[in-house]
Amino acid sequence: MEKVVSLCKRRGFIFQSSDIYGGLSNAWDYGPYGVELKNNVKRAWWKSIVYQRNDILGMDAAILMHPKVWEASGHVENFYDLKSDCKSCKKRFKTADLADKNKCPECGGELTESRKFNLMFKTHQGAVEDAANVVYLRPETAQGMFVNFSNILDSKHPRLPFGMAQIGKAFRNEITPGNFTFRTREFEQMEVEYFVNPEDADKKLAEWIEYRFNWYLDLGLKKENLRQRPHAKDELAHYAKACTDIEYNFSFGWSELEGIANRTDFDLKQHAEASGKDLRFFDDAAKKRFYPYIIEPSGGVDRSVLAYLADAYHEEQVKEETRVVLKLHRDLSPIKVAVLPLLKNRPQLVELAKKIAQDLKKSHVTVYDDTAAIGKLYRRQDEVGTLYCVTIDVQSLEDQQVTVRDRDTMQQERIGIDKLGEYLSGKL
Ligand code: GAP
Repeated sequence: MEKVVSLCKRRGFIFQSSDIYGGLSNAWDYGPYGVELKNNVKRAWWKSIVYQRNDILGMDAAILMHPKVWEASGHVENFYDLKSDCKSCKKRFKTADLADKNKCPECGGELTESRKFNLMFKTHQGAVEDAANVVYLRPETAQGMFVNFSNILDSKHPRLPFGMAQIGKAFRNEITPGNFTFRTREFEQMEVEYFVNPEDADKKLAEWIEYRFNWYLDLGLKKENLRQRPHAKDELAHYAKACTDIEYNFSFGWSELEGIANRTDFDLKQHAEASGKDLRFFDDAAKKRFYPYIIEPSGGVDRSVLAYLADAYHEEQVKEETRVVLKLHRDLSPIKVAVLPLLKNRPQLVELAKKIAQDLKKSHVTVYDDTAAIGKLYRRQDEVGTLYCVTIDVQSLEDQQVTVRDRDTMQQERIGIDKLGEYLSGKL
């Protein structure tokens, strides 16, 4: 993981937030390559969830919601961790992580009794800061979908089973954030709320676990680094009847990328009761009104990005040198093509290379780079996972051909400039 973290900073994937002020701990900014990778992960998820299925509708709900949402959802009462504070060094710990519940693991000082610590960030809406205008930063995107259940029924008239999908920021005042971007206080979620007939819930839960597991595999994660882990009863969230995590084998141990839960009819019933609105589904055929159950695949964008980076990181010995290469899946690679002139002091070469790059930009994410010798340019592109490097040399001016180098095999092919677009589109 250390090598991945260093690559992220060195090459512009992820930076420490507010770096020039000493950094805000456990907050991270995505740089030029990071934002591309993150967008590609989100795009791949949206494609597999919304575009490639017929039963899911996209959403983008506001982060700030009516405070009653969080009372009804149970988050005000139940969304907490137990914490213990050290009376000497004042450090705060998650009680569950402590081997000795009375002794500080850092300085040996005495710990306070463990107390509940609600994980929601609280703030105020408007100019006056009083209890009447408290709002929370949402700790999950899910509630934005539950409160729109009747809007979706009234506007789209879907039949069961159907789902809503949303990608967005969520916030939790974690007691022990850490492991780079794995656990942070601000993060992004990709969530589906899938409404089913209660009798079908177990079957649909199993189907979603497989569907989501395969998504990670299809985007290149190694099978041996991925596993499913059903939750024990005492681990379940306050709203869940069953849950299976998809875990990745990070250098710090097997850890959750996504949870797929059966939330039952808990949320719809709670919101119906608190709002006074009828949130039951009317089944035309059976002439029956009832609360559907909800199957919820809930994944983290940042955790997926971290797993894809860790899995793609390779070091290879090429002659005397170590080649660092990010073997990201082609849909995830931030840059698809790099156009590199062999000599930057030959105006004709540079002009041709820039024109080729400009043409390729119409179809693929393409960069032009002439700021170093070719060996160094290749290394730079390998490190960020660029799929193809197109080199323009003196010969190109005569035979109108360029060299295309494949990131993974490093094999090179001469291709006519007039065929280049078609050749790369075929590959990509
Ligand atoms: N709506 C259900 C829900 O929020 P969760 O297991 O608490 O379930 C879902 O969160 C996913 O969100 C996790 O699997 C993880 O990928 C991501 N996530 C949760 N807390 C996070 C944190 N503090 N930092 C980064 N990602 C987090």
